[in-house]
Amino acid sequence: MKTRVQGFLCAGVAACVAAGCCSDKGVDVKKSGAVEPSVVVKPFGKTKDGQLVNHYTLTGAGGVVMDVIDYGGKVVRLYTPDRSGAKTDITLGFNEVAGYETQDKYFGSLIGRYGNRIANGKFTLDGATYTLPTNNAPGSIPCSLHGGDKGFDAYVWHSEPLSEGKNVGIKFNMTSPDGDQGYPGKLDITVRYWLTPENVWRIEYEAVTDKATPVNMTQHLYFNFKGEAEGTILDHELTLFADRMTPVDKGLIPTGALVPVKGTPFDFTTPWLIGARIDADNEQLRFGGGYDHNWVLNSQSGKLAPAAALYEKTTGRYLEVWTTEPAIQFYCGNFLTDKVPGKRGKNLCHRGGLALETQHSPDSPNQPGFPSTILRPGAVYKTVTEYRFGVR
Ligand code: BGC
Repeated sequence: MKTRVQGFLCAGVAACVAAGCCSDKGVDVKKSGAVEPSVVVKPFGKTKDGQLVNHYTLTGAGGVVMDVIDYGGKVVRLYTPDRSGAKTDITLGFNEVAGYETQDKYFGSLIGRYGNRIANGKFTLDGATYTLPTNNAPGSIPCSLHGGDKGFDAYVWHSEPLSEGKNVGIKFNMTSPDGDQGYPGKLDITVRYWLTPENVWRIEYEAVTDKATPVNMTQHLYFNFKGEAEGTILDHELTLFADRMTPVDKGLIPTGALVPVKGTPFDFTTPWLIGARIDADNEQLRFGGGYDHNWVLNSQSGKLAPAAALYEKTTGRYLEVWTTEPAIQFYCGNFLTDKVPGKRGKNLCHRGGLALETQHSPDSPNQPGFPSTILRPGAVYKTVTEYRFGVR
């Protein structure tokens, strides 16, 4: 494994682009054979308040390449091979920090302290009521989304390169102070991204607290297997290893019920094209403007188990999502618009990407029937999610 700071080590696509040996302008990069794993670090500009941001290119021994910044742990680019071996950037992101600050802060980002929604931005824990920023209001009903006004997506994390055998990665650390966005307790967080020779992107989340607090971290990467800004994801085929989902009200807050998906447009227990039933006459689909819901995974063991699979037939790209988490949010980019510029000068579009966010179900701090998200002092929050890339 090679590590270079400010390097032109021509092992990663971004480094190749910097060195002028391949193009990032939509031209697929062909590679064959084994690749030497590497981590290349370079600057990625500054946040609007002047913090320096580092940019890492992880080149996995299996050929997957990821560009990641330590601002929010955001994956800026993700190159995976198609059926013929051609690599394309299959995720949404921006070329500059300002894009994330002004357009969409969640693209490719780590999300916390609490991923997804908390009703009215309020919860009660051990007799005390806590108030969070209400930064979102589907159906004009305010809630707290993805950790509040300044979630973990908006922090510059401390970061360092990792290597272990043929695996390469990045370690991120940060401390969220007591009272951060209204949440109790000082939370110390470590997240590790690993890229393996088997083309697995493994994410390990860890946190400890000094006061009881809800924690529900996730990753908000968007996929489009045809390539960034190459149309909608309605033609992607999705499988969800979940027999039940959590229906929501028009504020996208779970009602508390766990409802079987059988016989509904939410049944992805066998592979379905995302677009096949999205316009069905269904109240839940109307509330979400399409799919923006939480599925209860069949595995509730806390052990790594399959959560989702995604396939796109023209490129052959195939993904399996495995997680230790009990639920997954499938969001098909209903709020994305063609006003958002892509990285290659082409605008995105409505449903131009989809997110598969492993987590506990939304609003768990107010839902006694859902598995608890409360982390207490002395306990360690530990979850793992793997995105396993391949072709079919
Ligand atoms: C949620 C969407 C929300 C989006 C914001 C997703 O996790 O499910 O409702 O609009 O995040 O990026």
